Amino acid sequence: MLARPILESVRTLVTEHPLITHKLTALRDERTDSPTFRRLADELVTLLAYEATRDIRVSPVTVQTPVAPAQGVHLSSPTPVVIPILRAGLGMLEGMTRLLPTAEVGFLGMVRDHETLKATTYADRIPGELQGRQVFLLDPMLATGGTLIAAINLMIERGADKITAVCLLAAPEGLAALEAEFAQVDIDLAVVTAALDDHLNEKGYIVPGLGDAGDRLFGVVP
Ligand code: URA
Repeated sequence: MLARPILESVRTLVTEHPLITHKLTALRDERTDSPTFRRLADELVTLLAYEATRDIRVSPVTVQTPVAPAQGVHLSSPTPVVIPILRAGLGMLEGMTRLLPTAEVGFLGMVRDHETLKATTYADRIPGELQGRQVFLLDPMLATGGTLIAAINLMIERGADKITAVCLLAAPEGLAALEAEFAQVDIDLAVVTAALDDHLNEKGYIVPGLGDAGDRLFGVVP
């Protein structure tokens, strides 16, 4: 799978694979219903997870095959932490943990005010100490970057120094905001996404995007 690096200090990988583009195209299609959207998002995240875990920490190990000893690796301890940002990030959890079944799972509830576009936290079920843990944040839409920046700052406060955000889609404005916020911060920060779209509209939606990811996954909640 080809990955295209874009920015320097926030490592951004736009995965390029015909299956990813195929699934993303179906996700974007407004005629795709919620059950199909959930299944496609799940499959797409597993493909993104493969790329996002490319530099996951491993330790050398020797196993005995029926024929001879073989050198290999296993995931290092402590295990990675996967944190979906509620609500829409929940639609990415299964797809991610399919590749990382031993990961610990935390939950972070953030809501974006539709007028100010500011993110506030309403649920925090993440480990108090993240030092030495590899953190995978799941947020389908990197739009203004406000939610992800708030989430990453919380992870840094708790000691995380290696954070990968997995996003279905990203906007240039969101990536630029991340770059501006974290360029001078000494962390290993990466964004893995299926596509970098054109721009944000005046309501903060990614264009062409796929609409409101939470609504398309779970239905409209007033
Ligand atoms: N959140 C969404 O769900 N969609 C967008 O386009 C932007 C933010």
